[in-house]
Amino acid sequence: MVTKFINPVQEQLGEVEARMRSRLNGNPSGLITVLDQFVRLGGKRVRPTLTILVGKMLGADFDRLLDLAAAIEMLHTATLIHDDLVDDASLRRGARTINATWPPAASVLAGDLVFAIAANLAADTKSVRVMEMFAETLAVIVNGEIAYLFDDRAAFDREAYYRWIYAKTASMFELATGAAAILSSAREEEISSARQFGREIGMAFQIVDDVLDFTGAQADIGKPVGNDLRQGTITLPTLHYHENCPDDPDMLSVIRRNGHDQESLDRLIAAINDSDAIDQSISEARVFIRSGLEALAVFPDTQERQALEELSRYILKRHK
Ligand code: IPE
Ligand code: IPE
Ligand code: MG
Ligand code: MG
Repeated sequence: MVTKFINPVQEQLGEVEARMRSRLNGNPSGLITVLDQFVRLGGKRVRPTLTILVGKMLGADFDRLLDLAAAIEMLHTATLIHDDLVDDASLRRGARTINATWPPAASVLAGDLVFAIAANLAADTKSVRVMEMFAETLAVIVNGEIAYLFDDRAAFDREAYYRWIYAKTASMFELATGAAAILSSAREEEISSARQFGREIGMAFQIVDDVLDFTGAQADIGKPVGNDLRQGTITLPTLHYHENCPDDPDMLSVIRRNGHDQESLDRLIAAINDSDAIDQSISEARVFIRSGLEALAVFPDTQERQALEELSRYILKRHK
């Protein structure tokens, strides 16, 4: 992610990656090479960047902050491995996913191992409160997926969408910023502002991800475009489109999931892409970014706060 806000943390992100990789290497398994490659591919490192910037802004102990950042990026990595299996995705960070190459059991176990490493790194922060928040967040993520799979998927609406994206994405952003504040021995109001900041921009981050699933280029986002609808997953652009054009037959066949053919699916993806639904979704993301920036405004105006503001604005403009 070559933008200005990352410069102040570039070096520390290298150290975060080193800590993640050194934990992997203690495990004797053929899967380790694959996991190590995946960690090295990197991704945008948004969550550890948030952790480091918030911790620096509030004066956290640096060594523990780096373990926390590594723990959160490992948690994110584990959820991606399982998510790609669940979504049947073949491409991630521009490379083949583990589930595209290995049997499902390998993806489940690889994800489990990465969860365990993440928990271990979280324990290294020596903060019981951080570990509690870490475990609670993992429960929120998993319960969100369970609710989605068993209840919400069938009767999907805007409220279900918001519940789902809070659980799967915003809760982890909230952990990234909130746990950094906890490690900094910040005051309770500061911890809660830091959490709110992470939560709000996390909501925006997932909305933009859902928009990029329609508008993005595979070469930029490093994952297949149009995969959500192909999997029958309804996200905010589709909800808006459905409100705007309730009678589109392609839409109805996807919602009813009655054997929509490739052609109608491609037509629908193109229609959503060309519709107001995209701008409407980005406008909603903008509202979340604005609230996030308001929560951030309680902190002193330091270089780190400015970098966090810039990161927040980047979330709306990103192409990958
Ligand atoms: C992907 O997250 C999953 C979502 C929450 C949308 P990122 O877009 O942060 O993925 P990487 O880490 O950069 O690959
Ligand atoms: C992110 O949602 C969910 C988690 C990683 C838990 P997506 O399913 O939209 O993520 P991508 O698009 O596959 O990265
Ligand atoms: Mg996915
Ligand atoms: Mg997505």
